[in-house]
Amino acid sequence: MDHVPVLIEQILPFLKDVPAGIVVDATFGAGGYTRQILEKFPSLSVVGVDQDKTVLPFVAEIEKDFGDRFSFIQANFESMKDHLEDQKISAVVMDLGVSSMQIDQEERGFSYQQDGPLDMRMNSDQELSAYEIVNTWERKDLRRLFWKYGEEKHAPLIAANICHAREKKKIESTKELRDIIERAAHSVKAVMRVFQAIRIEVNDELGALERGMESAAALLQDGGLLIVVTFHSLEDRLVKNFMIDKGKAVAGSRYAPVLTEEKQFNILTRKPLLPTDLEIETNQRSRSAKLRVLQKKS
Ligand SMILES: C[S@@+](CC[C@H](N)C(=O)[O-])C[C@H]1O[C@@H](n2cnc3c(N)ncnc32)[C@H](O)[C@@H]1O
Repeated sequence: MDHVPVLIEQILPFLKDVPAGIVVDATFGAGGYTRQILEKFPSLSVVGVDQDKTVLPFVAEIEKDFGDRFSFIQANFESMKDHLEDQKISAVVMDLGVSSMQIDQEERGFSYQQDGPLDMRMNSDQELSAYEIVNTWERKDLRRLFWKYGEEKHAPLIAANICHAREKKKIESTKELRDIIERAAHSVKAVMRVFQAIRIEVNDELGALERGMESAAALLQDGGLLIVVTFHSLEDRLVKNFMIDKGKAVAGSRYAPVLTEEKQFNILTRKPLLPTDLEIETNQRSRSAKLRVLQKKS
């Protein structure tokens, strides 16, 4: 497995000026970001977070190479505040979505290009899987899902065909699902979009992102950074709006907000940073990546 960390060259310069302390790599994966951060910044340590326990061999490698400058929490990043309260958090980095390892493991069911069970859970201890959505959800709910998270124009026909197919036999595999979508929409892009929609729902990716960013913002010390890499427009919109919102001048409690002149955060990326042509050429996964950075004011 060769995992290339996306947009790392654009991320590292931001970390040069953060206050000393801990960087939370909230989407540890293969530890690509973690390794670079530990190598380049001796004054920083890293806490890795990932909800997928199959990353543990990568955790062991980083532990071996960096000792007590690194620790790992197996959890959803939305709960990072519970684990890290009162620590000096210099930055939180999020590299969203699934990793190339997860996609390459056909038994995880993330890939429409391989045949595997309908699963798509990043956290294999949770109950909801793609199988349940595809085989039990009502037609109108499937239609709404494919439209909302896949922005798929053939959503009504695809939902109808899934319901028709499963009357005869349960839909068990990614290949069966792919065939049904292709027969309805005659397009690989539609397959991609429907798989994306199901994956987002299975892992509650947008809900976790919203709660995760709130958790992160609450943890940052003054001058600390929230750095987020997104891969599709639904994620990017959420991150952009979150950052614009935090950049606003609000104090008081959420029930009685008080507008003040004092901003608590600065947006450091007025426009998102994108990969270079060279990065896109050498790493396909980077082609739709966007980087945004928010700073807690000093
Ligand atoms: C794109 S990969 C990260 C790759 C990593 N930056 C690297 O360089 O190796 C995303 C990882 O984040 C994890 N992940 C996604 N959403 C998560 C969440 N809500 N909580 C915890 N981990 C999450 C996935 O399990 C996956 O391992």
